[in-house]
Amino acid sequence: MTIRAKIVGTGSCVPEKVLTNKDLEKIIDTSDEWITTRTGIKERHIVEQGENNSDLAVGAARAALKMATISPDDLGLIIVGTLSPDMPMPSVACLVQQALGAKKAGAMDVSATCSGFLYGLSIADKFVRSEPDMKVLVIGSEVLSRRTNWRDRTTCVLFADGAGAAVVTGGEGERGIVSTCLHADGTLWELLTIRGLGTAHPVDASILEKGWQYIEMQGRDVFKHAVKALESVALEAVDASGWSMEEIDLLIAHQANIRILEHLRERLSLPRDKVFINIHKYGNTSAASIPIALDEANRQGRLMAGDKVLLVSFGGGFTWAGVTMSW
Ligand code: UT7
Repeated sequence: MTIRAKIVGTGSCVPEKVLTNKDLEKIIDTSDEWITTRTGIKERHIVEQGENNSDLAVGAARAALKMATISPDDLGLIIVGTLSPDMPMPSVACLVQQALGAKKAGAMDVSATCSGFLYGLSIADKFVRSEPDMKVLVIGSEVLSRRTNWRDRTTCVLFADGAGAAVVTGGEGERGIVSTCLHADGTLWELLTIRGLGTAHPVDASILEKGWQYIEMQGRDVFKHAVKALESVALEAVDASGWSMEEIDLLIAHQANIRILEHLRERLSLPRDKVFINIHKYGNTSAASIPIALDEANRQGRLMAGDKVLLVSFGGGFTWAGVTMSW
């Protein structure tokens, strides 16, 4: 008898405020044309004052619980992938646990940058396969607009805010998560960082002057590593499932750049209609990008029972991950 961890509900939540490329043209030296052709992004959602990561995470969680028709009381564990928590302590997961009133749930954040949701999903998979009745809420949630230097045009046009969530539980049969592959390479950490405001470089005037409270990225280098790592983890995850790439019905990759998605699609020889794309609407929401896309694909009816789905991510650290599931 095969026990698999299945996603039984998805949800997402983005701030109401939309910032378009045209809006950005008014605040920095950029153009809609550059952003669209170099990244694929047309607009993104940005929090208002007083709106926080945990608010978005709770919004996504409520939508996923509703779809799964389970109550917060049924949850055994809440995992939040994020690099932009409300505060260092407590975790976003504890704030979500409090807001939902999930009294029986453990709660923890996972720090794996853009791979945070897939790392969380992999942890949920292990828990649920050893305890099939357990219900795990996995969330990816970010408020990157508050970690963005709005005077640095090389990053501020990319990053944005949002949250996505999935409810995972066990069940008999072939449907569910089939393979999980997690990777990291800390030797390359300096290519994508927020150096300041941790304990190594706490708040002081010199840190703020250097802009170390913000995301800094060597974009071209990150791009090259991203394409390679995403391709290799996609092949690894599909191979570990005993499937072939032609059998994949839908690829959902971290939405960082339309050109990365296009390179990946070509390298994997996938047709356009098998690659989910929503970067034009949301920008790069790091750990939230895959669960937002998964929820959209689900609600648009693009995921049919038994479909073979491949999820792949890449982000700072570096971290990268691949998950396959039979929907
Ligand atoms: O989520 C984690 C993973 N992240 C990624 O995977 C991101 C990977 N990197 C990328 O997506 C791309 O490298 C970027 C979108 C960040 C940059 O695109 P690029 O084609 O690699 O541009 P570039 O950095 O090579 O810059 C090309 C030119 C430069 O001008 P010069 O030096 O050629 O005169 C930049 O100054 O484009 C200029 N530029 C801009 N121009 C207008 C950079 N940003 C902008 C901008 N508007 N916003």
